[in-house]
Amino acid sequence: MTAEIIDGKAFAAGLRERVGAAVPAFHKASGRAPGLAVVLVGEDPASQVYVRSKGKATLAAGMQSFEHKLPASVSQDDLIAVVEALNADDMVDGILVQLPLPPQIDEKAVIATIDPMKDVDGFHVVNAGKLAVGEEALVPCTPLGCLMLLKDKLGSLSGLNAVVIGRSNIVGKPMAQLLLQESCTVTVAHSRTKDLPDVVRRADIVVAAVGRPEMVKGDWIKPGATVIDVGINRVPAAEDGKTRLVGDVDYASAAEAASAITPVPGGVGPMTIAVLLRNTLVAAHRRVGLAPPAGL
Ligand code: GUN
Repeated sequence: MTAEIIDGKAFAAGLRERVGAAVPAFHKASGRAPGLAVVLVGEDPASQVYVRSKGKATLAAGMQSFEHKLPASVSQDDLIAVVEALNADDMVDGILVQLPLPPQIDEKAVIATIDPMKDVDGFHVVNAGKLAVGEEALVPCTPLGCLMLLKDKLGSLSGLNAVVIGRSNIVGKPMAQLLLQESCTVTVAHSRTKDLPDVVRRADIVVAAVGRPEMVKGDWIKPGATVIDVGINRVPAAEDGKTRLVGDVDYASAAEAASAITPVPGGVGPMTIAVLLRNTLVAAHRRVGLAPPAGL
């Protein structure tokens, strides 16, 4: 079997269009466009690129974008004061503090300061707790994007065996909660898991989010499984000394066994920003007491 490619780039473009199409009605009802504030601390090049593309996508969807750039030397108190000001600003519906933060800053304390209603990353313990007990929450963008791709490809996920590799708060844990909510039988594997290849071989759905280049091999994949690769790893290219992007899955061999697989790049990656815009639109509606549009 050669797997069908799950085109995350195309799905994300469609989602961004649906979000953008819903903005005028929100504007009419509330008197303003939804607003997303992004806080960037320091000058990490990768973070700067992410923040720039978030700002562009926000404006392209017809939303307001607020960028706050702070020096790497900022104190925790000053950063928290910026977040508190954004909590109090009625034009701001979503707040995203780009991670990682410099070592003098306690990430947990900063995330805990974000108003849970504006926590479009879904990282606040209130949102993590709501997700865990099945209440309406803001859900982390990357795992929600993975779930959208899975449901688009498979329809109902009920009863399927899902293996999530990775147990981070940003991807692995919320991914497991979302799959459980869809009535999958969920296994969360991690660096201490014994016989990982055998665990993965039982999976109808594999979500790889470990950050280890091409770790998941094709002979670990059950024939016909659906594979979602969250990894974005830059590795040296053999030929010319340049680098190339690879996922956590050895794409060439996995595509021989899977029925569908996300490529890297062009799979999960583009979904994260699209879902961030979706979460901002949803947060904006909830904050002003409107029902978010259906089908997002
Ligand atoms: N850094 C890398 N990914 C993310 C993300 O999804 N949200 C935030 N806030 N920072 C990140």
